[in-house]
Amino acid sequence: MTLNQLWFGVFPYLAVAIAVIGTISRYFDNRYSYSSLSSQFLEDRQLFWGSVAWHYGIIAILLGHLIGLLIPRSVLAWNGVPWRLYVLETSALIFGLLCVWGIVMLMVRRASSLRIRAVTSIMDWVLLLALLVQVVAGVWTAIFYRWGSSWYAGSAVPYLWSLFRLDPQIDLVGTLPLMVKIHILGAFGLILLLPFGRLVHLLSFPFTYFWRPHQVVIWNKQPTRADEEYVPASATPPVQQTSPSTQVGKSSS
Ligand code: HEM
Repeated sequence: MTLNQLWFGVFPYLAVAIAVIGTISRYFDNRYSYSSLSSQFLEDRQLFWGSVAWHYGIIAILLGHLIGLLIPRSVLAWNGVPWRLYVLETSALIFGLLCVWGIVMLMVRRASSLRIRAVTSIMDWVLLLALLVQVVAGVWTAIFYRWGSSWYAGSAVPYLWSLFRLDPQIDLVGTLPLMVKIHILGAFGLILLLPFGRLVHLLSFPFTYFWRPHQVVIWNKQPTRADEEYVPASATPPVQQTSPSTQVGKSSS
């Protein structure tokens, strides 16, 4: 077995298998850990600039990759007119740079704030580093191997579909430049890491992140007997009712 066969023919399936098994077992072991474990309450300013840039950038980029995967011929047709190709590539580059800026900001935040450092694990750093490598390799590919959106549709997408068909066509990617190979393998590396860190929050209704705060605090304390017996003052019925008319709307039920 050649190295290309190992990395592009075996590793993708291994990564997906580990991700599926890991995700399911994490769900059954500790389903309340399906979260980004937000640290917004420890530091908010840098988080805002990093997180907003990162999330809007990465969602646009992944949507672009998905469109290319689903309708590669339409992408090629769109790119057939030069100005449209430039618009697509320039927009992708802007979003790619937004991702790089966002992830660097998030890393600086974790490194510079003592409070955030205290709640940061090795896995957090592994994940941030993997994401940084992935987006830098992507932007590198876009800048140095033009025009990526066209050859992505023409050769990377057929390779991805060959994986879905369980018949990997290694030749389609085996001769690509090293940085592009790193980018493709990085995607499977991130899939592999999915169940082992904060990235798992992708699977827990990610879309609500657009309109709700990063952090929703839910009181998760086991109620004690005292809590159960406690009746808030507003719930107690009025002691004395002065006239029949005051009874209307004052019921505590
Ligand atoms: C976790 C998954 C992935 C992430 C986060 C990611 C991220 C990125 C980013 C940030 C860019 C730069 C966009 C630009 O500046 O134009 C990019 C470009 C690119 N990516 Fe990915 N990528 C992923 C998966 C993949 C996969 C699986 C492939 C191919 C099989 C791929 C192929 C490409 C190509 C060809 C470009 C250049 C596009 C262009 O020139 O406009 N990516 N990617």
